[in-house]
Amino acid sequence: MDSITRASVVVWFLVVVLLSVSSIVKSCPPSDRAALLALRADLVEPYLGIFDTWKGIDCCKGWYGISCDPNTRQVADINLRGESEDPIFEKAGRTGFMTGSISPSICKLKRLSSVIIADWKGITGEIPACITTLPFLRILDLVGNKLSGELPANIGKLRRLAVLNVADNLITGRIPQSIVNISSLMHLDLRNNRISGEIPAEFGRLSMLSRALLSRNQLSGSIPSSISKIYRLADLDLSLNYLSGSIAEWLGKMAVLSTLNLDGNLITGNIPATLLNSAVSILNLSRNSLEGRIPDVFGAGSYFTALDLSYNKLRGPIPKTLSSAAYIGHLDLSHNHLCGPIPGGSPFDHLDASSFAYNDCLCGKPLRPC
Ligand SMILES: *[C@@H]1O[C@H](CO)[C@@H](O)[C@H](O)[C@H]1NC(C)=O
Ligand SMILES: *[C@@H]1O[C@H](CO)[C@@H](O)[C@H](O)[C@H]1NC(C)=O
Repeated sequence: MDSITRASVVVWFLVVVLLSVSSIVKSCPPSDRAALLALRADLVEPYLGIFDTWKGIDCCKGWYGISCDPNTRQVADINLRGESEDPIFEKAGRTGFMTGSISPSICKLKRLSSVIIADWKGITGEIPACITTLPFLRILDLVGNKLSGELPANIGKLRRLAVLNVADNLITGRIPQSIVNISSLMHLDLRNNRISGEIPAEFGRLSMLSRALLSRNQLSGSIPSSISKIYRLADLDLSLNYLSGSIAEWLGKMAVLSTLNLDGNLITGNIPATLLNSAVSILNLSRNSLEGRIPDVFGAGSYFTALDLSYNKLRGPIPKTLSSAAYIGHLDLSHNHLCGPIPGGSPFDHLDASSFAYNDCLCGKPLRPC
C-alpha cells in the first residue's frame, strides 16, 4: 500500500467511526424514552396496536405519533389521533379507542411543542396540572376523550400556547382567570364540557384569538365587553350556556367577526342595529328572550349564510329592507310575535313556511295570503 492509499483508508475509518458515534448521539435521550414508556403504561389501546411500535432504543425513530427536535433529538411532538386517514385505521377498519389516563410523566418531556391526544373517546382522569411547566408548548389538543376535573389553574404560564382544544370532554370548574395571560392563544375550543362560572372579565386580553368556542357548557353572567378589543376574532360561539344580559352594540362593530352564535342562552333586550349591518354572516340568536323589533337596516351589503332569530319575543313586522339583502341562505324567524306581510324579493324566493311559522299574524307567500 502506498502512503496515499494508506491515508485514505485511515480517513474512511474515521468517517465510519464518526458516523456510528453520531448515530448514538442521534437517538432520543433515555429520560425522554422513559417518560414515553411511562405514558404508554397508563394507556390502553386495544384495537390498532399503535404502541407496539414504541420499542427499541431510539424513540425518535418509528415510534407511532412521536417526532423529535432534529438538533437535540428531544421529543417535540406527540401526535396521537383516534380519527385520522392513517392506513393503520383503514387496516383495522375502525376508529381509535383508548382507555386509561394521561400520565404526569408527560411533563418530563421538556421540549414538547405539541401534545395531540385526540378523539380516543375513552381516556379518563384529569389533565395533568404539570402540563403548565412545558415552556415550549404551542398546541394542546385533547378533544374527544372523557377527561374530567378542572383546567389547570395556572394555565396562563403557557405563554406560547396557540391552540387549546379540550372540547368534548367532561371538564368541570371555571375558566381559569390566568387564561387571559396566554398572549399567543389563537384558537380556544372548550365546547361541550361542564364548565361553569363567568367568562373572565379580562378575556379581551387574548388579542391573538381568532376562534373562541365555548358552546355547550354552563357559563353564566354577561358577555365581557373586553371582547370588543379582540381585533382578530372571527368566530365567537357562546351558544347553549346560561349567559344573560343584553347584546352590546360593539358586537356589531368587530372588524372580522363573521360567525356569532349566541343561541340557547338567557339573553334579553333588543337586537342592536349594528349587528345586522356588520361583517357577521352566520348569526344565530335563536332561543333567547330577545324583544323589540328587528332593526330595519338591511341593504345591498347584507350577506347572511344563516340568520336565525327563532324562539324569541320579537314583535312588529319583518323589516322591508330585508328583501334588498344581497343574499340570505337560511332564514328562521319562527316562534316570535311578528306580524304583517312577508316582503317579496329574491332573498325570500327559496324560503318555505317553516321560516315564518308560529308568529302572531304574518301573512303572504309562503304563508296564507294577507
Ligand atoms: C398574568 O401574568 C402576570 C405577569 O406574569 C401576573 O402578575 C398575573 O398575576 C397573571 N394573571 C393571572 C390572572 O394569573
Ligand atoms: C341556531 O341555534 C338553534 C338552537 O341552538 C339550533 O337549533 C339551530 O339549528 C341553529 N340554527 C342554525 C342555522 O344553525
